[in-house]
Amino acid sequence: MRVHVADHPLITHKLTVLRDERTPSPTFRALTSELVTLLAYEATREVRVEEVTIQTPVTQTTGVAIAEPRPLIVPILRAGLGMLDGMVTLVPSAEVGFLGMVRNEETLEPSVYAERLPEDLSNRQCFVLDPMLATGGSLLSAIEYLFDRGAQDVTAICLLAAPEGLAAIEKAVEGRDVTIVLGALDERLNEHGYIVPGLGDAGDRLYGTV
Ligand code: PRP
Ligand code: URA
Repeated sequence: MRVHVADHPLITHKLTVLRDERTPSPTFRALTSELVTLLAYEATREVRVEEVTIQTPVTQTTGVAIAEPRPLIVPILRAGLGMLDGMVTLVPSAEVGFLGMVRNEETLEPSVYAERLPEDLSNRQCFVLDPMLATGGSLLSAIEYLFDRGAQDVTAICLLAAPEGLAAIEKAVEGRDVTIVLGALDERLNEHGYIVPGLGDAGDRLYGTV
């Protein structure tokens, strides 16, 4: 498993505002979008392209276009939906599939409550969007779901992760082609399974339920 933690002052600056409990939902949503676009630049480094020939006003030349089958973007509902705009801004030709997951706040076990994905994901490059990688349970379920359908490789973009969750995923996906791109790797999980220092409940903050 490859892990890339962003190291850029603009990303850290935007994450600092996002973490601040005084930041209201509209600002939180706008910053989430901006952060995803910045992280998507790194996450799509290995996106498959094919050579194409084009005619400029001056001469014929070769360039590249996103290859078929197109990449599949999978936001994990609910909070991952807040990351979709930022991602499709960078890869407008990608297809989008949806997975709805919720974590039981007592047991911290995730469950799937909605799914709208292509049946066959053979040879597909998948990009999972979920702002928070806490215990790693939700992201791991999503990754397994996609590989079970034939996905070739999975790249996850998360704004924040806890070391415990990252280690759990690394152990579980051994031998699979998985990349995780993070805005920041935080200190730890607390006794409620929240990331510390974190930003609280991402879904609630995105959608104004706090
Ligand atoms: C949050 C978050 C992740 C998950 C992370 O979703 O968006 O999907 O928790 O926790 P984990 O790594 O311990 O599984 P939540 O279940 O709160 O649902 P929501 O997106 O609807 O708020
Ligand atoms: N889900 C969140 O939204 N935040 C956390 O810190 C952990 C799980």
